[in-house]
Amino acid sequence: MTERLYIFDTTLRDGEQSPGASMNTGEKLRLAYQLEKLGVDVIEAGFPAASVGDFEAVSRIAEKMKTTQVAALARTSKADIDRAWEAISHGVKPRIHTFIATSDIHMEYKLGMNREQVIEKTIEGVRYARSFTDNVEFSAEDASRSDRDFLCKVFEAAIEAGATTVNVPDTVGYAIPEEFGELIKYIIARTPNIGKAVVSVHCHNDLGLATANTVAAICAGARQAEVTINGIGERAGNTSLEEVVMSIHTRPNFIPVNTNIKTENIHPTSRLVSMITGIIVQPNKAIVGANAFAHEAGIHQDGMLKNPMTYEIMKPETIGLSQSKLILGKHSGRHALRSHLKDMGYDLSDEELNQVFKRFKEIADKKKHVMDEDLEVIVTEGILRTAETFKLDYLNVVSGTTVYPMASVRLEINGRIVQGAGYGNGPIDSAYNTIAKLTGARSELLRFTVSALTGGTDAQGEVTVRLRENGLIALGRGSDPDIITASAKAYINGLNRLEYLKTNPVNASDGL
Ligand code: KIV
Ligand code: ZN
Repeated sequence: MTERLYIFDTTLRDGEQSPGASMNTGEKLRLAYQLEKLGVDVIEAGFPAASVGDFEAVSRIAEKMKTTQVAALARTSKADIDRAWEAISHGVKPRIHTFIATSDIHMEYKLGMNREQVIEKTIEGVRYARSFTDNVEFSAEDASRSDRDFLCKVFEAAIEAGATTVNVPDTVGYAIPEEFGELIKYIIARTPNIGKAVVSVHCHNDLGLATANTVAAICAGARQAEVTINGIGERAGNTSLEEVVMSIHTRPNFIPVNTNIKTENIHPTSRLVSMITGIIVQPNKAIVGANAFAHEAGIHQDGMLKNPMTYEIMKPETIGLSQSKLILGKHSGRHALRSHLKDMGYDLSDEELNQVFKRFKEIADKKKHVMDEDLEVIVTEGILRTAETFKLDYLNVVSGTTVYPMASVRLEINGRIVQGAGYGNGPIDSAYNTIAKLTGARSELLRFTVSALTGGTDAQGEVTVRLRENGLIALGRGSDPDIITASAKAYINGLNRLEYLKTNPVNASDGL
């Protein structure tokens, strides 16, 4: 039997640090349920000292997870650790994750501390965290650019103070696989008490090497990998869960460890993350990109027909990728819908089911067959998006080759109905101008993308927008068989997210 590799998922913390990826508490909770179903060992749910919103989300997730450890991030200060513990203490397996920077450049310019002071803060923070729980992780931020012998001293002190996991972050994505693997071996060989802790790695993808560095570290003895779904995260992102897990699954002779991940849940989880954050997965992304299992070249297709193993190193079913299932139509009843949603992992209350059923009927009227993807959107948009400041009540757009495009819009704003009309260069422009007028929105539209959710001309169109206002960036997403309606929904969703960001400011001054 091979050794166990613990999967520490930080989609909800480092992943949420992707520009514009902020999620509300309902969305975070839904994702946490899915991560538990996927089989991750630890969910890093957030940084409670950063904002009230973060605190609440971490606390709800800790309350609801049945088997998964829930970690909360904290600097080494008592105030941060108190807040982290307050957020997770009621969970089944709470973990405090405390960190401080150890590279000369971070210590001098960011912390204004010398090496002795950093060791002192490490001991203080870990000891204090340990007074609450015996599940304490310590991270040496910017470890890959730290002096190796100093790093070993810091880890030795952290373990002595009670850390049960020590994490080696490549914070700025600077490491090269061979070098990073060597660093892990060095730490294991030169830290006298390392046997009392699990060695963890946390890589960023600035050079596109996050997965390679993580795999090299596992081969060198690391036994926890910190990852995110779809590799989302600060700047170029973090190591992607699906790439590490499928590398282990596909090349067990080279990477002899096992994980608890149920690989057939990888694709649905990837889809959910993309839907909730509004961050589209690039088509050629390994494992979960739309083209990852598509064979275009004639020679490849011919080989595939004769034997799939000619060009396919993994089976699409292994990651839960099946042909989009044709499931329900407009004659399907409430009971069939409930049971199908249950199979998809959505156990809805009667009230939620009523809401989804109503929207399902509307879609089924416009579109012959309702697919799993359509249902996912209905549930995500209808149930998870609570506390909306702006709601679309009515939209009518006139456009064509001989008329000047005009939109009439009715919105509900904090329960009050407002309506108006406006012109634009095209139907979407006229709808956006009118919505902006009614909401008083001052945001700038940075990006606008449209894609089809399923095949066919009756597919639901999915629109993603990126908005900026006073330095805040929010993504918005909307779907509908009518592309203009989908565009309006995406814009309104983005405006709601901006409102959420305005009322949930990030307080932490220390950049991670
Ligand atoms: O990248 C990093 O160093 C981090 C730490 C807080 C673990 O995210
Ligand atoms: Zn990070």
